[in-house]
Formats: sequence, structure tokens, C-alpha cells
Amino acid sequence: MLAAWQATAESNRVTFPSLEKLVHYTTVRRGNVTEHIMTTPEAIEAVKKGQPIPTGTHFVLVDYREGEVFRYFVMQKGDGWGGDYDERRRTGDWQFQWFKPDRTINMSENTARCQSCHQSQAASEYLYTGYRIPRFNGTPIE
Ligand code: HEC
Repeated sequence: MLAAWQATAESNRVTFPSLEKLVHYTTVRRGNVTEHIMTTPEAIEAVKKGQPIPTGTHFVLVDYREGEVFRYFVMQKGDGWGGDYDERRRTGDWQFQWFKPDRTINMSENTARCQSCHQSQAASEYLYTGYRIPRFNGTPIE
């Protein structure tokens, strides 16, 4: 039982951020899913200046379905965090986590899946929507 749980369950260094400190810079809609994507004001400034995103930064994708939070996808960058994973899995110093609406970790997800998909965005800090940030002027980009 414990072994089976360990095969998929995974906590890591990612913490749940203070959402009120984050800025909602873009919205992605697909079918009945609405995603609000947000990060810190400091990260937005860094991207606009073409600088690396600061250590400690969170990016959060809030997935809404029928007007309710369905889940939170979180990426966080930390000093040397890439060293927790072997090179094939690594996504720079970013780690990933899936939080349930009550902000506890979804222990049935292995975040290697998050990393393997986001690895394709290595040239843009492992972000899919980072390219939208330079156009952000206070109103979330659709
Ligand atoms: C099959 C590919 C794929 C997988 C797997 C995936 N993502 Fe993403 N992720 C995307 C795409 C594409 C976007 C851009 C938003 C959109 O199109 O829905 C995104 C956006 C995000 C964002 C917003 C920042 C950004 O990159 O634009 C976060 C945070 C995020 N994902 C976290 C996660 C987490 C955590 C997991 C695993 C639980 C995960 N992702 C798994 C493809 C993926």
C-alpha cells in the first residue's frame, strides 16, 4: 500500500503562494475551462526587461470550471532546485505542483509529466504564456 502510494505521490519544494500578491496577466479559455494565469509584479518587470525571472517566483494557473476553482497548477523557481532531479527530467530550477481547490497537494499526480511537457519551453523559462507578458499593461491578455 505504501509502496503504491509512493510510486505516484509526490510533494516537492513548491509552496502554495499568496494569490493576492500575484498579478493576473493572461486568460486562456478552452471549452468549459477558463484559466487565469498569474505571477509576481517582479517577474513581470524582469520579463519586460529581458532579465532572468527572480528566484522564488511563482507562476499560477487557476483552472476554473462552471465558475468554481477546479485546481491550481503552480510552478516555482528556487536556487539549485533543478538539482533535485536528474538531467533528463530537469526543468532548469523550476519545480511544478498540482494543488486541489482546498490548496492541498494532489497526491495522485506525478509532476514529471508537468516537466516533460514544459521542457519544450526551455528557451522561455519553461513558460508557455511568458511571451504574452511584454504586451501586458494591466488588463489580462486574452
Ligand atoms: C501536455 C502539456 C502540458 C502538461 C502535461 C502540463 N502543462 Fe502546464 N501548460 C501547458 C500549456 C500549453 C500552457 C499554456 C496555457 C494553456 O494553453 O492552457 C501551460 C501553462 C501552465 C502554467 C502557466 C505558466 C505558463 O507556462 O504559461 C503553469 C503554472 C503550469 N502550466 C503548470 C503545470 C503543472 C503544475 C503541470 C502538472 C500538474 C502542468 N503544467 C502540466 C502545457 C502542459
